[in-house]
Formats: sequence, structure tokens, C-alpha cells
Amino acid sequence: MRHYSGIDKIIQSFDQGLRSLVPGATSAHRKNPAEDHVSALSIREARHVAGLMRVNHSGEVCAQALYHGQALTAKLPNVKKEMEQAAIEEQDHLAWCEDRLNELESLPSFLNPIWYGLSFTMGAFAGIAGDKYSLGFVAETERQVSLHLEDHIQQLPPQDIRSRKILEQMNEDELHHRDTALEAGGVVLPPPICVIMTTVSKLMTKTSYYI
Ligand SMILES: [Fe+2]
Ligand SMILES: [Fe+2]
Repeated sequence: MRHYSGIDKIIQSFDQGLRSLVPGATSAHRKNPAEDHVSALSIREARHVAGLMRVNHSGEVCAQALYHGQALTAKLPNVKKEMEQAAIEEQDHLAWCEDRLNELESLPSFLNPIWYGLSFTMGAFAGIAGDKYSLGFVAETERQVSLHLEDHIQQLPPQDIRSRKILEQMNEDELHHRDTALEAGGVVLPPPICVIMTTVSKLMTKTSYYI
């Protein structure tokens, strides 16, 4: 196996960060679940859906950062493959959200670099704390993401099949990621950590909807 030096790892992290943050730099490995469905929206509806998709896109930027931060510090000898597979699926989510934002003639959040930096740092610290905490952190993140995806699915206009198909597939994947992390030995995080995560997530959802 190839050995990467500290400098290699820093360059790799910087490259991963850029790929997650520059629009169009990530492409999906799977077909977009929206497929050929048609969703005709009024201007008002399209604006609301764009806000929701911007929040989901920011959530996926955070997921990328979390997995990248974790990969830098966690060992995860038994579940490296599963975690890499989850990170690839997160790339699909990011690309699908970006596609939908483009269709709605809207933009990703300008705050994404901040969310990326915060999530990367949290992911890296969780990795340093040990694999069971790192996996616990993944499980808790995926649980929280799934909760807000379910809320967003409820908020979609009934005729917006395109967004619905994307969010439903994402939710299915996130629940699978959560289960994988728990089965691999992820522990329940101490309550103060969960509170911090919920606070950051609330701050993100409230602001990324608008900017
Ligand atoms: Fe995701
Ligand atoms: Fe996920």
C-alpha cells in the first residue's frame, strides 16, 4: 500500500475541499432519481423549493467535509470500505442537489466554505477521539440529516416529483449510512456534543435557506 506523507494528506484534503465547494466539480456515480419526471412549479413554489434544496446541498457539503475529516484522522480498519462507499454516495447527493438548484435557476449557499470548515474540523476531532466516537458522530449526523430530509419532503409542493425523488433516495441512503456506522460499533455521543451538533445544524438550515 502506498504511504502518504503529512504534506500529501494536506494537499489531498485541500483538493477534496475544493471539489466539494466548487459548483460542477462533483459528478454523480448513479443516475439522478428525478429521471424524466416533470415538475411544473409557480415562481413562489420554485423559490421555496430552491431554498430547501440549498439547505440540503449545504447539508451534503457538510457530509463531504465530515467524511473527509474523518478519513484524515480515523483508522477504521474494519469499515474503511463501507465508509468510502458512503462518501461516494454523498457525492451523488451533492451532485443531485446541485442539478436541482440549477434547474430552479438558483445557486448553492455562499456560506458553504464555513460549513465545510466546521464539519471537517468536527469530523477530524471525532476521528482523533477514536473510531467508536467517529462512527457515533457519523450515525448522529446521518440521523439528524434524515430528520430534516423528512421535514423537507413534507414541505414540497405535491407536484414536485423531481425534488421528491431526489430527497427520498437521499433519505434512504442516509438511514443506511447511519445503520452501517452503528453496526460497525458507533457509540451514542455524549448529550453536550449532540446539542452542539443540533445547534450548528439549525444555524445552517436557517441561513442557507436564504443565502
Ligand atoms: Fe447525503
Ligand atoms: Fe449520508
